[in-house]
Amino acid sequence: MKIGIDQIGMATPAFYLDLIELAQARGDEPEKYTIGIGQDQQAVAPSSQDIVTLGASAANFLSATDREQIGLIVVGTETGIDASKASALYIHDLLELSPWCRALEIKEACYGGTAALMMARDFIAAHPQQKALVIAADIARYGLASGGEVTQGAGAVAMLVSTSPRLLALQDDSVVKSGSIMDFWRPQYTDLALAKGKYSTEQYLAFFQATWTRYQVETGLDLNDFAALCFHLPYTKMGLKALRTALPAVDEAKQAALKAHFEASCQYSRRIGNLYTGSLYLGLLSMLELDGHLQAGDRIGLFSYGSGAVGEFFSAELQPGFEQQLHAVAHQHLLDSRQRLAVAEYEAVFTDKVPYGPKDYQANSKYFAGPFVLTGVTDQERQYQRL
Ligand code: HMG
Repeated sequence: MKIGIDQIGMATPAFYLDLIELAQARGDEPEKYTIGIGQDQQAVAPSSQDIVTLGASAANFLSATDREQIGLIVVGTETGIDASKASALYIHDLLELSPWCRALEIKEACYGGTAALMMARDFIAAHPQQKALVIAADIARYGLASGGEVTQGAGAVAMLVSTSPRLLALQDDSVVKSGSIMDFWRPQYTDLALAKGKYSTEQYLAFFQATWTRYQVETGLDLNDFAALCFHLPYTKMGLKALRTALPAVDEAKQAALKAHFEASCQYSRRIGNLYTGSLYLGLLSMLELDGHLQAGDRIGLFSYGSGAVGEFFSAELQPGFEQQLHAVAHQHLLDSRQRLAVAEYEAVFTDKVPYGPKDYQANSKYFAGPFVLTGVTDQERQYQRL
């Protein structure tokens, strides 16, 4: 039985920051951000956007039949809005899914999206008549003028998993590695991540090398068997560094082809930033929509990394007619129609947030943009609205 991704959608806030302007404000050379880090713009989430509004917006492709058939909705996130109630329930409500459905949230840093996808695959193997909705949603915050500021971002990717997938068939070939390390984490008192920046990049590469090497031994496949590789993109240069470690195994023509596909996978991330759980899948979507040289039957390798840390390498096969499932024009429009914020306004928006405390809170309606918004918090209950 084939199981895989039938549809995929994305969402990102209606506001962004130009990273050349940020570099100037922080006294850095712009090329450090655009070349050294590989990021051009950064999504800015006002307090009226959270993982619920972004996650629900990303799933705007669902039909009435999909809504009826979804038996599992699982949200992978590290930007939880409640320590107990799952964000999946709020999204379930906003999307008007069938009540006969499991709804839950899952966490392991940026690996949470892949954990959710693999759970969905197993669920569909056990319940082939149903569908599973996977949402990977996050707002990456490191703090104003912090080392990680240039890599911040926000948004969500939604994937519908089913039998007979029209986009990608997931292969049963995962190699997963786990080990407890302190490269990046977020204590419960703060909404800002802590990172040992350089150490985290070394661990990312070490987990890639370990899983990729073992994958080749276990499957007998090598880089020539892959049309393209996609990476978790905390910033695009990180994925490039990982790709470069694999390239010497193939000839120059193959290297050039893999680099070109990788470049296509970076385009959305360059304009949005780190989506944490959704970054790998945003890269996949970017590649599928902007590459133009992939074809049905191609094998795509995917490397997922979540700090803490879990790494997983797996592959998926492009399905006939996959092009018809893509929405490049709409996604281009989504990015092009965003409003640019000057650095001072970005800083004000960044600082205006739902408080860690019992007081009521009203989000600034100046930044309300649809389809869903968090209008505020009343009596410690979050209030959502469709615009
Ligand atoms: P930094 O100290 O600001 O930057 O930290 P740097 O000095 O290392 O410079 C970055 C690059 O820019 C270097 O290139 C410089 O040479 C280059 P590299 O050596 O890396 O190839 N550079 C220039 N290039 C062109 N023109 C110039 C110029 N100047 C310098 N003028 C760091 C960078 C990424 C560490 C920081 O931003 C950070 O801490 N980020 C957050 C942590 C992170 O993203 N880690 C990634 C791996 S861990 C991960 O992926 C998991 C994660 O997504 C979380 C989760 O799992 O939930 C983060």
